[in-house]
Amino acid sequence: MDLKIKRFMCGSLLADGYVIYHKPGGDCWIIDPGYEPKGYIDFVAEQELHVLGILLTHLHYDHTGAAENLADRWDCPILMHEADAFVYRGRVDRMLHDQEVLLLEDEEIRVLSTPGHTKGSVCFYAGKSRVCFTGDTIFDTDLGRTDLPGGSEEEMIASIRNVVDLWENDITIYPGHEGQATMKQVRKYNTEFIALRDGHER
Ligand SMILES: [Fe+2]
Repeated sequence: MDLKIKRFMCGSLLADGYVIYHKPGGDCWIIDPGYEPKGYIDFVAEQELHVLGILLTHLHYDHTGAAENLADRWDCPILMHEADAFVYRGRVDRMLHDQEVLLLEDEEIRVLSTPGHTKGSVCFYAGKSRVCFTGDTIFDTDLGRTDLPGGSEEEMIASIRNVVDLWENDITIYPGHEGQATMKQVRKYNTEFIALRDGHER
C-alpha cells in the first residue's frame, strides 16, 4: 500500500508539514509541524492514527514550532539529526543519523543527511512509495538558502550532487515550502538545482 500524505500549509512563511500513514487506524509519523497544532490534532483524531513520533527535517522554527505541544499530547518522541540537535534550543528525544532507517508499518523511511541549508538538514526518503520529504534542502523550483547560521553553499552543492541527484525521475519531492514536484520536473524547471549540479553558481 502506498503512503498517504496529508499536507498542512501553515503560518506566515507558509511552511509545509505532513502526516504520513497507510490507512485510518494505523501508525503515522508527523513531519515538520511548524505552526498551528490544531490541524494535526484534528486529523489524527479523525483518522484514528497512532503517532510514532515527530520527524524534523531541520531546526528552524517554521518547521518545529508545534513539535513539543504535539509530542506532549501524544506522548511520542521528537527526532532530529544530531548536527542540528546540538544547537537546537527545543526538545529532541532521539538523534538521527545519516542512512538510518525508520519504519512505518512495512515501509522503510531512510534518513538522508543533506547539509547546506543547516548542518543537520535531512531528507526522509520512502523508496517503496517513491516519495521524499526534503525540508528546506530543495523545493519544486529552487533550493533552500545557505546564508543563515549553519548554512553552507559548498555543503549544499555536495548534497545536491551526491544525494539529491541520485533520485530517479519518478520520485516526488514534498518540500518544506511551496508544492510537490517529481524529480523529472525538478531536472527540467528547478534552475538552482540545475546550476549547482552542473558546476555553476545559482
Ligand atoms: Fe529552514
